[in-house]
Amino acid sequence: CGTNIAPAVGVNSPVSVPSDTVDIDWDTIGFGLVHTDHMYTMKCSLGGSFSKGELVPFGNIELSPCAGVLNYGQGLFEGLKAYRTEDDNILLFRPEENAKRMMMGAERMCMPSPSVDQFIQAVKATVLANERWIPPPGKGSLYIRPLLIGSGSVLGLAPAPEYTFLIYVSPVGNYFKEGLSPINLIIETEMHRATPGGTGSVKTIGNYAAVLKAQGAAKAEGYSDVLYLDSVHKKYLEEVSSCNIFIVKGNSISTPDIKGTILPGITRKSIIDVARDEGFQVEEREVTVDELLDADEVFCTGTAVVVSPVGSITYLGKSVSYGSHGVGLVSQQLYSSLTRLQMGLVDDKMGWIVKL
Ligand code: COI
Repeated sequence: CGTNIAPAVGVNSPVSVPSDTVDIDWDTIGFGLVHTDHMYTMKCSLGGSFSKGELVPFGNIELSPCAGVLNYGQGLFEGLKAYRTEDDNILLFRPEENAKRMMMGAERMCMPSPSVDQFIQAVKATVLANERWIPPPGKGSLYIRPLLIGSGSVLGLAPAPEYTFLIYVSPVGNYFKEGLSPINLIIETEMHRATPGGTGSVKTIGNYAAVLKAQGAAKAEGYSDVLYLDSVHKKYLEEVSSCNIFIVKGNSISTPDIKGTILPGITRKSIIDVARDEGFQVEEREVTVDELLDADEVFCTGTAVVVSPVGSITYLGKSVSYGSHGVGLVSQQLYSSLTRLQMGLVDDKMGWIVKL
């Protein structure tokens, strides 16, 4: 903390980067945690600004039992990915968007946050320090998890006096066990993910704890995940536990608009632009359950899930299937366009790729 200017690479202490390859079966890797070599850490006091960060060996961190994050949930996270290309370049997808989203979330949660530049430099340093864990081209990606937590001690309800920004990484494959096969969702009618005026539009950790109960019940019944409705009318779509949702009808694609209760997904935003560029009419608006059940295709988007086709939706005991449980053509097309861009297989005319 204090007034020091962050060094150009955002790292205080250089680390020695092992160059040997890792022993992983890249063909079977899913979305599970793999411990890698290094993590990034940077601290700051309330009212101060982040300055020098450092790369340290990946491992446990020490926190007081009174830490703000443990007692009052003052915490945010982000998720982005690095890809290895055939010519051995490393590509990041829109890291600036994650940095800006973390700043917005920090403002809502009364936390200081790293600047956009500090965030991006820290991400780059962490990826490079863990380079050997980036899967080969086409076999997955390195998932990057930035965290911002109230690490200082506090007893009465108040912002923590100290904050820690951390980044760890893990190689990942597909998020859902279905892989790229369509997932089956159930609409939750009792519990809600977010409420107007709440924190649904920021990536605060409590939003994710809040969905575990419904998600667990859905999984126990064989569903892949839960789709939430708005808490006021209980008829407009919000999002799935870990991703945004889109419906397709003819040439028209619709997704719930961002109005405070929905996470402004970076993949969501990218898919809207890619779909418009490919001639689809895309609307961000209120989408009803009736429209969902009447759609030609449904798919989810997120950093972790990428573009995940939906095979069926169950609502109030009745199920609707899409495309005979096959991957819909529009979902397939948008998945392919986005991932080819992310993996550096096509020209980056959007200017979204950051090469390390
Ligand atoms: C992501 O897509 O990066 C997310 O943050 C979702 C997470 C629950 C895995």
